[in-house]
Amino acid sequence: MAFSEVTRERARQIIARYPEGRSRSALLPLLHLVQSEQGYVSPEGIAFCAEILGITKAQVGAVATFYTMYKRKPTGDYLVSVCTNTMCGVLGGDKAYEALRDHLGVDHDETTADGKITLEHAECLAACDYAPVMTVNYEFFDQITEDSALTLVKQLQNGERPQPTRGTRLCTLKEMAVQLAGFADDRGDDVIADGPAGEPTLAGNRLAERFGIAVPGFDPETPISKKEEAKP
Ligand code: FES
Repeated sequence: MAFSEVTRERARQIIARYPEGRSRSALLPLLHLVQSEQGYVSPEGIAFCAEILGITKAQVGAVATFYTMYKRKPTGDYLVSVCTNTMCGVLGGDKAYEALRDHLGVDHDETTADGKITLEHAECLAACDYAPVMTVNYEFFDQITEDSALTLVKQLQNGERPQPTRGTRLCTLKEMAVQLAGFADDRGDDVIADGPAGEPTLAGNRLAERFGIAVPGFDPETPISKKEEAKP
C-alpha cells in the first residue's frame, strides 16, 4: 500500500527536525507516523521508513519490535491497556482485566472482530498513586473497578468517547499516533488537557510541607544549564 501524500509530507517535516546527517534519529516519530495511517507498523511501513531514511529494513524492524507502543498487527480504534503490575493488580486491576477479557471475548494483544477494541495487559503505567488504572489510547482512567472498566468499554462499543479522568478528550489510536509523531492536536482548546496536578500526586509534597522536610540548599528557581555552559 502506498502511503498518502499527507503522510509523505509529514515524514519530510519530521526528518527536517533533525540535523543534517542525523536523519535516522527521526525513526521513532516516523514509526508513529506510519501507525497513524495504517493503525500498525506493517511491512510496508517498515519499508517506507527504511527507504526515506536510507537505512535497512532490518534496522527499522529491530527498533519497531523493541518498543511495545509500535504494534505489529492491525490494532483497534481504541487500545485498552489495563495495568496488571503488582500495585494495580492487587488493588483490582487483575479483576478488571478479567472482566474486560470475558466481556470482549479477546485476550492480551487481541482485537475484537469489529476492529474497534484491542485489549492488553500493561506494565506499570507510572500512575501507581491512582491505582488501579487503565488507559485508552494512552489517556488515563484512574481508580477503576470491574464495573467502571466494563461501563467504559461498553461506551466505546456504543460509539461514545468517555472523558478520561485526566488529560484530553479521547481520540482514535490513529489520531493519537499523529500526536505521538510530534504534530499538534488540532481539535481546539476545549479538548486540551489543563489544570494542576491531582491530590494523590501532590500528597508527598503536602507531607513534606507539613513536617518541614526540605532538600538543603535546593532552589526551585535554579535554571537548567545548557550543555555548553555545563562544560568545566
Ligand atoms: S502498578 Fe499500575 S500504575 Fe504502577
